[in-house]
Parts: sequence; C-alpha cells; structure tokens
Amino acid sequence: MATQRTLSIIKPDATRRNLTGEINARIEKSGLRIVAQKRTVLSRAQVESFYAAHKDRSFFPELCAFMASGPVVIQVLEGVEAVKKYRALMGATNPSQADQGTLRRDFAESIEANSVHGSDSEDSAQEEIAFFFAAMDIVG
Ligand code: RTP
Ligand code: MG
Repeated sequence: MATQRTLSIIKPDATRRNLTGEINARIEKSGLRIVAQKRTVLSRAQVESFYAAHKDRSFFPELCAFMASGPVVIQVLEGVEAVKKYRALMGATNPSQADQGTLRRDFAESIEANSVHGSDSEDSAQEEIAFFFAAMDIVG
C-alpha cells in the first residue's frame, strides 16, 4: 500500500469554533502526518478557482461565500492510502449521513458548513496541493 499525500482544509465554521486542535488530534491519531499547514483567509477569487469543478452547481455561490467568510487552515496530510483514509475520517458530505465518529458527524453544522475538505482522488490531491503549497513548504 502506497504512501500518499492529500490536501485538507479546516473550513471557516470549524476555525470559528476553535476546533483546529481537536481536528488535528483526530488526524494524527488516524496515523496521518501533517506535513504542511497554514492558516489564511482565502479571497473569493481563490475559492472560485479552487472549487471550479463545481461552478455549475446550484450551491456554488453560497459555497464560495462561505469558504471566503473566515480563516481556514490548509494542510497537506501524508500516510498510507492518505486520500482514502482522510475521506473516511471526514465522513459523508452531509453530516446527517456521516458515520459515527467521523469529523463531519461530530463537528459539521450543515451540508455546506461541514468543517473539513479532503481531496477526492490522487490526481485531485496533486493538483490541490500544488494550488496552495510549493514543494519546499512540505516537510515529510
Ligand atoms: P469537499 O470537496 O469540501 O471535501 O466535500 P465533498 O467532496 O464531500 O463534497 P463536494 O460534492 O465536493 O462538495 C463540495 C462542498 O460544497 C458544499 N456543498 N453544499 N448545499 C449543498 O447541497 C452542498 N453540497 C455540497 C459542501 O461544503 C461540500 O463539502
Ligand atoms: Mg469534493
């Protein structure tokens, strides 16, 4: 099983409630390593570009407004099968459908304000990591 990297974003609903440390503890307990991390406020243009795949969805304007509404913590996670492992730790997009013990089940406020983002494939992980980090900013 291959070691991979995936992109995580702790979303504004979670930073507002001061949940960064609790989420990071769950990430580390799962066996994933946080190999890059920065806290920032994304511009509307950055969010629109990051979520461009969703530009035709009805929820796109609200999603972009939400993601630019406050601080986010952007991370690169590394570990065995990191993409799949982090998606499992996050749980389903809609917290009411997320499994017990997942980040979204325990922390999300709604389907939109669902506390965390994780890349959904190895290809998107590579693109998303390059969107936010230079190679020298990632220390494994
Ligand atoms: P993410 O990309 O943030 O990790 O979430 P995901 O793969 O589980 O879900 P995705 O379909 O990629 O949707 C991206 C984000 O858009 C918001 N959303 N709102 N109002 C709605 O029906 C709706 N559906 C999705 C969520 O913040 C979701 O995480
Ligand atoms: Mg997604």
